[in-house]
Amino acid sequence: MLGRRDFLTGMGAGALALGAGLGFTTLRATAGTPLDIQSRETGYDFGNGLTQGLVSTVDGAAPPVLRLKQHEAATLRFTNGVEDYSTMHWHGVRLPNAMDGVPYLTQLPQRQGEAYDYTYAPPDAGTFWYHPHCVTMRQMARGLTGILIVEEEEDPVFDLDLPLNLKDFRLGNDQELLEYFTPRGAARGGTLGNTMTTNWQRAPRYDAPAGGLVRLRFAATDTTRIYRLAFPEIEGRIFAWDGHPVNEPLAWPTRDAPLFLGPGQRVDVALRMPSEEGAVLDFLGMHGLAPVTLASVRSTGASLNRDLAELKPLPANPVAEPDLARAERRDLVFGWSPDEMVPNNGLCGTSEYTFWSIDREPWPGDAAQGVRPVADLKLGQSYVLRMHNESPNDHPIHLHGLTFKPIRSNQGPVAQNWTDTYLLRKSEVADIAFVADNPGDWAFHCHVIEHQKTGLSGYVRVT
Ligand code: C2O
Ligand code: CU
Ligand code: CU
Repeated sequence: MLGRRDFLTGMGAGALALGAGLGFTTLRATAGTPLDIQSRETGYDFGNGLTQGLVSTVDGAAPPVLRLKQHEAATLRFTNGVEDYSTMHWHGVRLPNAMDGVPYLTQLPQRQGEAYDYTYAPPDAGTFWYHPHCVTMRQMARGLTGILIVEEEEDPVFDLDLPLNLKDFRLGNDQELLEYFTPRGAARGGTLGNTMTTNWQRAPRYDAPAGGLVRLRFAATDTTRIYRLAFPEIEGRIFAWDGHPVNEPLAWPTRDAPLFLGPGQRVDVALRMPSEEGAVLDFLGMHGLAPVTLASVRSTGASLNRDLAELKPLPANPVAEPDLARAERRDLVFGWSPDEMVPNNGLCGTSEYTFWSIDREPWPGDAAQGVRPVADLKLGQSYVLRMHNESPNDHPIHLHGLTFKPIRSNQGPVAQNWTDTYLLRKSEVADIAFVADNPGDWAFHCHVIEHQKTGLSGYVRVT
């Protein structure tokens, strides 16, 4: 018999274990021993035949879920096992600048066979994720995105903790990978995939104890898709947003009012399974003509008779509150700017096009020399960044190294929850506030990767 704790994480002893029948791998970092992850090419069957040329860190499966402990230093040793250069980035984690995995800005690109030790003690518990930041489009589109869980110091005691990595693939008639970058897509909303997956599976179904409490961790790791989540007829609540416990409640998403989750964003949901055995809960994406089932969870066994009221609120993460009365304001304009320039990404690949800009300056490429930051910030000072979207497209704007909160928008009320990625809707003007409390050069870009790679990128400097 598995104890509740084993069932919770789906793991026994040791760093490597398959989830208990969950169909994905979980790796836990242990203090003092580097956790080895190495990228590699692999084949995988999405249901209609083998697709070759995918990239994971395990053979024939999605990249593993990595688990760290809050405040405990761990070393993630990433070895680039593919021909392209690479680096690894830990999205949303506040870490020392040299561990951020941004080529040329914080480290040099890793050639094939080269390892880099990413050592840090994550200050915040919650749901984060990881992906390469060099030849990003190609490696992410081929599958190299994984969920990074930082466990709370005190276990919130769920009966099942289920990470759900949402990602599309673009496949042809023979299940081959199609071109993931298109100039037409890059100049508009991005190129969508045609095969929606969760943990690399199409509409997987998981088992959870009847009457039990389940934590779902949705992570939108696609290069393009803005998910529209709906959880109709399910009893639960949203209790963390982009890694952090919610300060302000978010409405339970319905078919008519789905929850928008842009590329890079995460949402943690707590729910209670029905008491009857065999009940199936469907988690929907409102895309296209009919809702898509992204995942379902079926109740099994005799009811555990738990109650959502048993859940204590998660402890707040140690994020400094910005001093709005003294905050300095900076304005940033995100816009369209077709340009003849070919971005210089050095060893990190090129898109050959420029369509986007921050403050009318397209990012000249990761390897361009002498590029100034979009904002020069003083360590310890509070800031309000006013972000103007002058384009008719949505942009999930992501800031590395610092955690911020939206405080107002011209589109209506905003929930002031801590985040690292703000989905800036078309024509929106939104203010985000934070304390510049982490020194370094921090990448700041749109997480629609085709936008990032065609100009909508920059960095802020904190000194
Ligand atoms: Cu999730 Cu700069 O990235
Ligand atoms: Cu990031
Ligand atoms: Cu964008």
